[in-house]
Amino acid sequence: MQIRIFETKEEIAAAAADVYAGLLAKKPDAVLGFATGASPLPTYAELIRRCEAGAISFKDVKTFNLDEYCGLPADDENSYRTFMFRNLFSQIDIRPENAHLLDGNAPDEEAEARRYDRMIEEAGGVDLQLLGIGTNGHIGFNEPGESFTKSTFVVQLAESTIRSNSIYFKDGNMPTSAVTMGIGSIFAARKIILIATGEKKAEAIRKTVCGDITPRCPASILQLHPDTVLLLDKAAAALLGEEERSRV
Ligand code: F6R
Repeated sequence: MQIRIFETKEEIAAAAADVYAGLLAKKPDAVLGFATGASPLPTYAELIRRCEAGAISFKDVKTFNLDEYCGLPADDENSYRTFMFRNLFSQIDIRPENAHLLDGNAPDEEAEARRYDRMIEEAGGVDLQLLGIGTNGHIGFNEPGESFTKSTFVVQLAESTIRSNSIYFKDGNMPTSAVTMGIGSIFAARKIILIATGEKKAEAIRKTVCGDITPRCPASILQLHPDTVLLLDKAAAALLGEEERSRV
């Protein structure tokens, strides 16, 4: 696990965008795994800027998002589909039909999960997966639990996740379940970037990097991944020791 610590969110965004640029130069039809939330927003802004400048193109990529709330209309203000089209897809040259998100309203959730796993497999697997991390160590919506999850599944959201994310639901009606790629699906990505900023993430980052590898901190599995880089600000890295900080 590589660890890089930056002064600002903009520096993190530039470092992340450099990874996209490097990959897309080699493989213009790469398969990209995207996340929602606050953590990736500066990176998305930087990808948009580079795309507008002609430095990077998404015209041949396929994308798969990590997760989606259950029970929200697809065009709801708070759906992850809305988030991705608003904050990235509508502003880059991706073909909309190549941007895949889970259907949180599928009548048969199990069939929807299998359909998504199959599509990822048929696309050749994810080349580059972008992750944020929950204060409880979740990645995607893989909440702390007793065992690591494998493939896409429907999850009951943890209390801590509902607390963190309910700020976005002005009417107070935050969904309590979601459909998410499993830990196995995330781990299968050939390269992973995890972005964390702010002191609220410091303990989750400490457990991810230095703690036991346990489903009680789902992100800790990344210790075993062959190509994961953590892009952190100083606040998120505050509880790491000297040895971890020098893992560049
Ligand atoms: C979102 C996702 C979540 C978030 C995490 C951190 O698609 O999968 O795991 O990455 O909850 O969210 P932020 O970045 O808002 O702190």
